[in-house]
Amino acid sequence: PANKKLLILPGDGIGPEVVRETRRIIEWLERRRAITFEIEEGLVGGIALDTTGSACPDETVEAAKAADAVLFGSVGGPKWDSLPFDKRPELGILRLRKDLGLFANLRPAVVLDPLLDASALKHDLVRGLNIMIVRETTSGVYFGEPRGVTTGADGKRTGVDTQLYHEDEIARVARVAFELARQRRNKVTSVDKANVMQSGRLWRAVVGEVHKAEFADVELEHMYADNCAMQLASRPKQFDVILADNLFGDVLSDLAAALTGSLGMLPSATLGEVQPTGKRHALYEPIHGSAPDIAGKGIANPSAQILSFAMLLKISFGMEEEAVLIEQAIEKVLAGGLRTADIMAPGMARIGTSVMGEAVLRELDKLAA
Ligand code: NAD
Ligand code: IPM
Ligand code: MN
Repeated sequence: PANKKLLILPGDGIGPEVVRETRRIIEWLERRRAITFEIEEGLVGGIALDTTGSACPDETVEAAKAADAVLFGSVGGPKWDSLPFDKRPELGILRLRKDLGLFANLRPAVVLDPLLDASALKHDLVRGLNIMIVRETTSGVYFGEPRGVTTGADGKRTGVDTQLYHEDEIARVARVAFELARQRRNKVTSVDKANVMQSGRLWRAVVGEVHKAEFADVELEHMYADNCAMQLASRPKQFDVILADNLFGDVLSDLAAALTGSLGMLPSATLGEVQPTGKRHALYEPIHGSAPDIAGKGIANPSAQILSFAMLLKISFGMEEEAVLIEQAIEKVLAGGLRTADIMAPGMARIGTSVMGEAVLRELDKLAA
């Protein structure tokens, strides 16, 4: 078969730093597993804005559409924070999600045993935790119109965003959540504010209809988003798959990340619809951002980026074995006592980004020997 086409978009801040370590893993696979990828790098975010005037140039969108999968770093930073809305680096990721129809963002939150010490919660509450958040990513308040800031006759400003969901948008992401649940512990918790939002009431109704018609074998529970946040922080093991809209999913997944130890550990996959040709657009990125506070210091944890690549191998390229190798290598490094600063614990040795990358390569060598 033809080589798989991979588009890599490092972006800003720690993005290029953690992508660099991921590329070393890719080189290892090419060297040791006789796999070759057709790799292209592209511009996105602040760096794209500075170079081309757009945070998401058309060439990047075209390259993403042509690729079999996209590996995305992170975008944004203080340098661009005061730019007008239509110039912000964050538009880079938002346009890619929208233009490629990447509506289902899968955000696993898994607590690895060696990282129990790094969790914000007591060990008993999070040992063995394995949650999958399915976040809608092409609609909701991120894209609804009207939006903007207007100035009234009195000279006072009003900021407007519109939360908006079409029932088909709700149904398709719900299906993804139910299908995932069937491969896991068969439970979906759908999150909304049906008590105060019209779109939330529709969300609850449509999820219920899809459930009844197609997934009655899966356990479905509805939960208000505020309660879900509280439950996540106090009794997280009750959850299997959490289904949420764009905004609630964003907030709850950062919270789930804190339970697992660090934002620096968590990958994600964002998937589009399976097209008639069988092709499915997909983008893989860590949940974290460009981390301006530590960018350029060589101390970022590359695990979330490397694990995002492992998700890519599994979901887009069907390379389950290689993906598992990478996951095991990372777990072994952590079990061996090496830690980047974000997951530091007493008695562990503090390492930087590239030493972490090297340690993963060494474990891969051992696992493949
Ligand atoms: P952030 O995720 O960049 O950082 C939050 C905190 O987590 C920081 O203290 C950071 O140092 C730490 N952190 C994040 N990733 C880490 C890693 N791999 N290793 C060690 N520590 C890590 O969120 P923020 O500070 O709110 O946002 C910074 C910028 O990133 C903003 O411009 C924001 O819009 C953007 N952002 C982009 C994405 C994306 O590209 N998908 C996601 C979130 C935020
Ligand atoms: C994420 C980020 C993005 C989002 C930003 C950078 C647009 O926070 O991927 O979680 O809000 O979706
Ligand atoms: Mn976020």
